[in-house]
Amino acid sequence: MHTTEAFRLDGARALVTGASRGIGRAVALTLADAGADLALSARTEEALKGTAAEVTQRDRAAHRVPGDFAEPAAAGRVVDAAADALGGLDIVVHNAGVLPARPDGTPLLVPLSGSDQGDWDHVVTVNLNATAALCRHAHRHLTASPRAGLVLMSSVAGMMGMPMAEAYAATKAGQVSLARSLAAGWACDGVRVNALYPGWTRTDMTAFAYRTAPVSDWLMAHVPLGRWAEPEEVAWAALYLASPAAGHLTGQALVLDGGVSVPDSGLAGIPKPPSPFAGA
Ligand SMILES: NC(=O)c1ccc[n+]([C@@H]2O[C@H](COP(=O)([O-])OP(=O)(O)OC[C@H]3O[C@@H](n4cnc5c(N)ncnc54)[C@H](OP(=O)(O)O)[C@@H]3O)[C@@H](O)[C@H]2O)c1
Repeated sequence: MHTTEAFRLDGARALVTGASRGIGRAVALTLADAGADLALSARTEEALKGTAAEVTQRDRAAHRVPGDFAEPAAAGRVVDAAADALGGLDIVVHNAGVLPARPDGTPLLVPLSGSDQGDWDHVVTVNLNATAALCRHAHRHLTASPRAGLVLMSSVAGMMGMPMAEAYAATKAGQVSLARSLAAGWACDGVRVNALYPGWTRTDMTAFAYRTAPVSDWLMAHVPLGRWAEPEEVAWAALYLASPAAGHLTGQALVLDGGVSVPDSGLAGIPKPPSPFAGA
């Protein structure tokens, strides 16, 4: 196979969740650029209008399969609706996820000791329980595909931990553990399962941080590459994991974090401004 062909997905049928914006939108457009037809999911059909239009501009099919993963039966319905619309599934990129949030949608970053069980349960329901349900339902569709790939969007918080967002970090660690277990179990069915560990990426989820200069400057001082990732950079890694180029890769979590998970112990000399969270 020619190198460029190894990154093509011509004719593949792909479900992308969390496709209305941010990383999921970029993944959907990148897979469409590579030749895949798409089923796009978010909580509402309306929220998916923009991404669907951008996919169809690329001459690829875009089916909207909404579902709210806070509701236990939604993941199964989304998977089956996507498979019905596309006539099967070859690729699933499960990207939808949440930080704990206040009722107005702004992130609720508080230590575990200051949060309540309801905050924990919501994040676990959306990020981890829905991931398990989605994988369970996707299995029968993916086993029918000759080029099946499942990619779970974790976070480097799952590897490193994240004070003030313990539930989020725990669910993201759980997704990688699930990916590794499924990879071993599903290899004999010809289904590859991998995960991505993105670091700080410029999306609505992180707008609270990148739009506030002292917070953004301080966070970026802890990223050796010194900048935010753009959603497309995460999407290109998702394309790699879903493509024939990664045909012998399963059970792995690819770290894409600008080096944030590499402990420099101060030896690299990267200057650190005072913490905007000091005394918070
Ligand atoms: N941004 C980062 O720095 C970063 C870093 C590491 C990992 N990640 C992970 O990357 C993924 C995407 O993050 P993002 O930054 O692109 O987030 P985002 O901009 O907030 O987008 C989140 C996406 O998930 C969907 N979603 C949220 N709650 C949902 C629910 N209950 N049911 C169904 N869909 C739901 C949203 O759809 P609606 O339009 O319906 O809200 C939206 O499409 C997440 O899993 C996140 O944990 C992000």
